[in-house]
Amino acid sequence: MKIEILDDHETLSQQAAGRIVGQVRAQPASVICCASGDTPRRMCRIVADEIARQHVDFGRVALIGLDEWLGIDPSNEGSCHYFFRNEVLHPWKLREDQIHLFDAFAHDPLVECRKMDQLIRERGGLDLMIVGIGMNGHIGFNEPGQPFDLYSHVADLDKTTRSVGQKYFKEKTVLTQGITLGLQHLLEAKEVILMASGSAKVDVVARALTGPVTEQMPASVLRRHANATVMLDKEAAARVL
Ligand code: GLP
Repeated sequence: MKIEILDDHETLSQQAAGRIVGQVRAQPASVICCASGDTPRRMCRIVADEIARQHVDFGRVALIGLDEWLGIDPSNEGSCHYFFRNEVLHPWKLREDQIHLFDAFAHDPLVECRKMDQLIRERGGLDLMIVGIGMNGHIGFNEPGQPFDLYSHVADLDKTTRSVGQKYFKEKTVLTQGITLGLQHLLEAKEVILMASGSAKVDVVARALTGPVTEQMPASVLRRHANATVMLDKEAAARVL
């Protein structure tokens, strides 16, 4: 695992966007998993600008959404669906059949999980996975204490996730479960980038990168990955410098 420290959120976003564009240039049929949330939002805009500027062909990319809040309507602006439609699908000019998101209303969420696992397997695994880190160290909805060796699964959200998650919603929203790719997907991805920025993440980033590798701190799993890069801005990196 490598650590890259960038000056600020803008530079971090440019760096990560450059890795996505570079990946697609090198391998047009890449399978890319991306997190939603505040951290990658600017990166997604930069990717859109670069697609237009450099005329990069994203027409063979498969884009996998990392996670979703179970039971939250795709039209709700706090949903991951909403993020991917507005920040990725349209701006990157992808076709509907190129983007694969968990159905928050799947009749049987476990079947939905197996469908996602199968899709990733059939495409030959994830070429690039871009993730963030939650305030409790989660990646996607892999909450503290969940095994590292899970593929897609349904997770009960912990207290921190339920309260921090309110920032995405206009009104107070009951958040109880999430559906997410597992950390086994991350361990098997050919390349992983974890992005973190801002002073609020300073403690969790330090614990993930310098504390024990443990299922109690899901993001510490990155230290078991041979081709992982943690991209931090200076604020988030203050305690790992
Ligand atoms: C959210 C999502 C994650 C995201 C993380 C950090 O709850 N489940 O996929 O990466 O927490 O989010 P943010 O970038 O908004 O801080």
